[in-house]
Amino acid sequence: MGVGIHDSYFLPNDAKYPFPIGIEAAGVIEEIGSEVRGHRPEERIAFVSSMQPKGGTWAEYVAVKATSLIMPIPTGLGFVEAAAIPVAGNTALKALGTLATAPVDGSLFIAGGSGAIGTVAIQLARQRGWHVAASASKPNHDYMLSLGAHKVVDYGNPHWREQILEWMPNGVDAVLAVQPGTSAESLPVVKDGGTLVSISGDAHISECGIHMTGVPYQMDVLDDLVQLMEQIAAGEIHLELEQVYPFADALAALAKVQTRRARGKLVLRRE
Ligand SMILES: NC(=O)c1ccc[n+]([C@@H]2O[C@H](COP(=O)([O-])OP(=O)(O)OC[C@H]3O[C@@H](n4cnc5c(N)ncnc54)[C@H](OP(=O)(O)O)[C@@H]3O)[C@@H](O)[C@H]2O)c1
Repeated sequence: MGVGIHDSYFLPNDAKYPFPIGIEAAGVIEEIGSEVRGHRPEERIAFVSSMQPKGGTWAEYVAVKATSLIMPIPTGLGFVEAAAIPVAGNTALKALGTLATAPVDGSLFIAGGSGAIGTVAIQLARQRGWHVAASASKPNHDYMLSLGAHKVVDYGNPHWREQILEWMPNGVDAVLAVQPGTSAESLPVVKDGGTLVSISGDAHISECGIHMTGVPYQMDVLDDLVQLMEQIAAGEIHLELEQVYPFADALAALAKVQTRRARGKLVLRRE
């Protein structure tokens, strides 16, 4: 079961347990509805479920609509790894998908490169030919370089924008603003006519000459997600798991993700 900060949005302070939150997981299909095509019992899948208002994938059994995001788990990939991919992979792919018309060898700044989404986005952007810069605190710089970032900056350094502009003097073609609040602070590094994708729902800022957009939820990236899982299984894309928690420690995993300091993804494992 994948853990993300979004999971905490569905957990009220006065929750009476059991209170199944969680929107992604991996497991084996136990049963399918009579009209479901394309899946079979015993199939290993990773999935996103938004069927229950509060999620519901942090559970032993989950009912998932056949129209949900469901991906077969490739041979060689375990359930723990597979559960870490759907939400971060989906978000990174859709955010990058908005840049499909940008220059083939364009430049991209990822504000929040060491977390769950940034880890995937840096590598996919490099595969697609982008020149990539990314931000995190200093202890994560070697990590982001190892993922393929050409340039790394520390968001705590007041000169990080100058450093990006030294790297790309006219500004970058696009920004993926992953962490909240990074949209406004990243605008000065975007070139005129460039694009800024706000992943955390920052308020839209009307800035002359810069196209600001959100994550296009309606975009279909299922085939790309399946391919991403295959690339992870083949070792072509690195999946970083900061920690795998036993299910009994789910609240500790939630507390960690709420710090916004995890590297890569957190996963719960049912013992
Ligand atoms: N739109 C969507 O579909 C969608 C889907 C999923 C998630 N989201 C949103 O995406 C955000 C979470 O993304 P995520 O899961 O990738 O985050 P995450 O895994 O929690 O990111 C943690 C990483 O971000 C770095 N970081 C923290 N603050 C930063 C800052 N101000 N600038 C740059 N880096 C910073 C940290 O590095 P250091 O430890 O080095 O500081 C840490 O490694 C949430 O706000 C969530 O709501 C949106």
